[in-house]
Amino acid sequence: MYSDLVMDHFSAPRNVGEIEEPDGVGRIGSPECGDVIRLTIKVGDGRITDVKFKAFGCGAAVATSSMATELVKGATLDEALAVTNQTVADALGGLPAQKMHCSNLAADALHLAIEDYLARRDDASGDETACDVGSGDDELPVGRPADEAACDRTGES
Ligand code: FES
Repeated sequence: MYSDLVMDHFSAPRNVGEIEEPDGVGRIGSPECGDVIRLTIKVGDGRITDVKFKAFGCGAAVATSSMATELVKGATLDEALAVTNQTVADALGGLPAQKMHCSNLAADALHLAIEDYLARRDDASGDETACDVGSGDDELPVGRPADEAACDRTGES
C-alpha cells in the first residue's frame, strides 16, 4: 500500500519539532479526519533556512510533512510556494488515492507559514515608515517632517 519512501519518512521523520521564535507559522486541520499539522519556518535572504513540523495525524500525514520539510529546506519562497500536495506525494513515490488529502495538510501548512512570514514582514516594514506615529507620541518633534505629508490620508494640508 505504501512506498518504501513513505515508510522511511514515517518511521524516521525528518525535521520534527518546533522552531523557537519562528518567522512564520502554519497550522491546519483536516476536515476529513481532524488531524492537525503545525509547521514553523525560519527565513533568511529570501530562503527557508530552517523548517520543522509537529503532526497529530496518521502515518501519511507524518511522512508527507517530513518530505515537505525536506523539499523546502534551503528553497526560495517562490520555490516553496510551488510545492503542492502532488509534489509531495510524487517525491514519496506516490500515495494511495484515499490518502492524498493527508498530503494536502503538509502543503497547506507550508503555504500558511510562508503567508504568515510575508504578513509579518509587511507589518514590520510598515513600522519603519514615517506614517507610523502610533508610539512615543510625546516624543514627536514639533513641526512636521517633510515626508510626513506624503502619509497624510486626512487630506488636511
Ligand atoms: S487520515 Fe488524517 S491526515 Fe491522514
